[in-house]
Amino acid sequence: MSVMIGLVAYSPTLYRLFCAATGYGGTTQRADSAAASVSDKTVTVRFDTNIASDLPWRFEPVQRDVKVRLGEDKLVFFRAENLSDKALVGHATFNVTPDKVGLYFKKIQCFCFDDERLEPHQQVDMPVDFFVDPALAQDPDTQDVSEITLSYTFFRTADSEKAKDLSRFLVSAPPDPHRGEELFEQRCTACHALDRNKAGPALGGVFGRRAGSVPGYNYSPALLASGVEWDQDDLDRWLADPRGFVAGARMPIKIPDATTRRDIIAYLKRESIEETAPLQHSASDAVPQHASLRAPK
Ligand code: HEC
Repeated sequence: MSVMIGLVAYSPTLYRLFCAATGYGGTTQRADSAAASVSDKTVTVRFDTNIASDLPWRFEPVQRDVKVRLGEDKLVFFRAENLSDKALVGHATFNVTPDKVGLYFKKIQCFCFDDERLEPHQQVDMPVDFFVDPALAQDPDTQDVSEITLSYTFFRTADSEKAKDLSRFLVSAPPDPHRGEELFEQRCTACHALDRNKAGPALGGVFGRRAGSVPGYNYSPALLASGVEWDQDDLDRWLADPRGFVAGARMPIKIPDATTRRDIIAYLKRESIEETAPLQHSASDAVPQHASLRAPK
């Protein structure tokens, strides 16, 4: 099979055959699920996207790069948007550099490169689930590799008859906490954990919690005084622009993309519900549950 992956990197037709033969085509079936062993060695995978000049789409990776341990299953997304007023069909090819790494770069879910149709102004996030085979570190040719680039190019296709409808990846699909978890790891864990304060406050249980209420975290006076109780809407406005939402707040990043925010919030909500469920035994206590969590003023 590895030989095949080496080949298909250069041939969309073979890649299609490969998908057909193994049944990947958009189903949830997994290849060798993630490799049996996950090693401590990490590599950085960068994503690169290109688009032929006659295809008026925007096409970009949702994340520029990810760091993965060898053997670790990773889910990433690529966003495509049709900028034109008519439905257009494209197909993608991919390649992995350095070339010699192609053998070890394994996809377990592909946005299989059939011809793909995007309706006018439609925007979709296409998932790619991959891992880097730990055998990479055993091969004398590749053991020094610390960076891999996965590159996709979308071309315009004339034949639109058999095109698959990319709306299966429509951004208006229901919120996806699993994707949110991946995004949380990529975008938030530099400063946040669920269970402890880091540069930012602990976020486990944040859904429904009062802003500025994690003990031992040194909040900005602005957030402490905000009176916000984190719900869907407030979290969305906060993530879109923390300082626009609470002037004087100290969170330095913004998440401009609505779908990214939606899925991260779905994840935080799921974690909050799981986290607070056991506490509900004492819900009749006179003291509100979150009182003990409130930071001293
Ligand atoms: C570069 C660091 C950094 C990153 C990255 C970051 N945050 Fe924050 N976050 C902070 C800081 C600092 C605060 C405290 C703000 C204040 O006190 O004004 C904060 C506060 C928050 C709060 C308010 C929590 C409370 O207890 O009231 C939420 C919710 C939050 N962040 C969510 C996120 C999410 C979700 C992400 C990822 C999309 C994220 N943050 C990424 C630094 C960061």
